[in-house]
Amino acid sequence: MQRLEVIGSNKLKGNIKISGSKNSSLPILAATLLSRKKIILHNLPKVNDIDTMISLLESLGSKTKFKNNNLIINNQNQKKKFASYSLVKTMRAGILVLGPLLAKFGSAKVSLPGGCAIGTRPIDIHLKAFSKIGVKYKIQQGYVHAVAPKGLQGNKINFSKISVGATENLIIATSFAKGTSILSNIAIEPEIIDLINFLNKMGCKIRWIAKRKLKIIGVTKLKEINYSVMPDRIEAGTYLIAAAITEGNIKIKNIDPNIIKTEINVLKKIGIQIKKNKNEIQIVGSKKIKNVNIKTAPYPGFPTDLQAQMMVLLCKANRVSEIKEDIFENRFMHVSELNRMGAKISIKGNKAIVQGNTNFAAAELMATDLRASVSLVLAALSAKGKSIINRIYHLDRGYENIEKKLKKVGAKIRRIN
Ligand code: EPZ
Repeated sequence: MQRLEVIGSNKLKGNIKISGSKNSSLPILAATLLSRKKIILHNLPKVNDIDTMISLLESLGSKTKFKNNNLIINNQNQKKKFASYSLVKTMRAGILVLGPLLAKFGSAKVSLPGGCAIGTRPIDIHLKAFSKIGVKYKIQQGYVHAVAPKGLQGNKINFSKISVGATENLIIATSFAKGTSILSNIAIEPEIIDLINFLNKMGCKIRWIAKRKLKIIGVTKLKEINYSVMPDRIEAGTYLIAAAITEGNIKIKNIDPNIIKTEINVLKKIGIQIKKNKNEIQIVGSKKIKNVNIKTAPYPGFPTDLQAQMMVLLCKANRVSEIKEDIFENRFMHVSELNRMGAKISIKGNKAIVQGNTNFAAAELMATDLRASVSLVLAALSAKGKSIINRIYHLDRGYENIEKKLKKVGAKIRRIN
């Protein structure tokens, strides 16, 4: 089992280039199943979740070639419609192949995602919406058996709750349904905009008719496509916080500051100097960090995927902060490990009360999920001495070359087998 050794606490200085977005790549990869034409994707991050999704596409019959962040996909003979538990259990976004498989074949058998450290990850919103467009389904032995006897029929869908995955699944499916669909109360994360741009470039007809409302006219023909995936805003936010917590001075390159406005405003509010340029952000950490209260929310609110990282920074604030996790039911797994490093964080329901003025002490640590594991790296960067972080396969799911990028800006970090 690999581990990370981190020796804090250097000030990080220099440039970090942001990789492609994992959470934009995954729905776009699923959507490639709609097409039988040649597809070339650029800027895919080399992370385990992408490898898992590519293996899932291969298991369905896609032919792929993945080299230097570029992927060529050939679906000419793709005809399988069974997505196995072995692949979907490690990467819940596997459920996103349900939409395209139903659109293309009118039936599919896809493993239920199952739970993970941060929550049960239900798909009731996905399934309710599918039944509105002519899909009949039953859940048997951990699989969704879905069929659309008359093919997918366009319809009005009003999501009862904002769900990124359900929005993505239904945008893909209704792009190939017969007739027109209106999707209301959709999630509007930048990754969804990227998916829509990808689908429209491939020949789909998806139009915005209100802030959280789409009109989608079903199509049957698609074009060959060459598409570059957007940069990863959560990776960018993570490195902004790394600079802040080490009182460093970092330029984050290859990120549009407009898609992380909320995060930047919070960092400015707690006293961090930030200079935004067209496609990069300059951040200078400071000794004095002011406390702030945060609650996670769907975009453009504060992202749940940065909650753990921001919590580490707020441990250094001058006073107590409150963090409310309103998206997932169990996303405080990092708290006990941070408390072992000297943090003073207590949990009341979905609220974490974070005492300030913490000097993190180096320790041996255990990662539990993707974003919790990177929060331990941030705390270790700030702690004097050597920390060891175990189970870093969680980290490798979503952060490309994290040691290389951090080493380049002065962090003492290495992977040990
Ligand atoms: C996506 O997950 C992201 N994953 C998550 O990032 C992110 O945290 C989440 O959106 C919220 O922004 C990918 O994009 C691959 P949801 P998703 O459907 O689609 C509940 C990371 O660290 N819900 O918006 O699963 C659900 O349980 C990952 O990169 C239902 O109740 O998120 C959760 O409490 C973690 N029924 C809330 O809604 C459903 O049918 C938001 O889930 C679907 C969701």
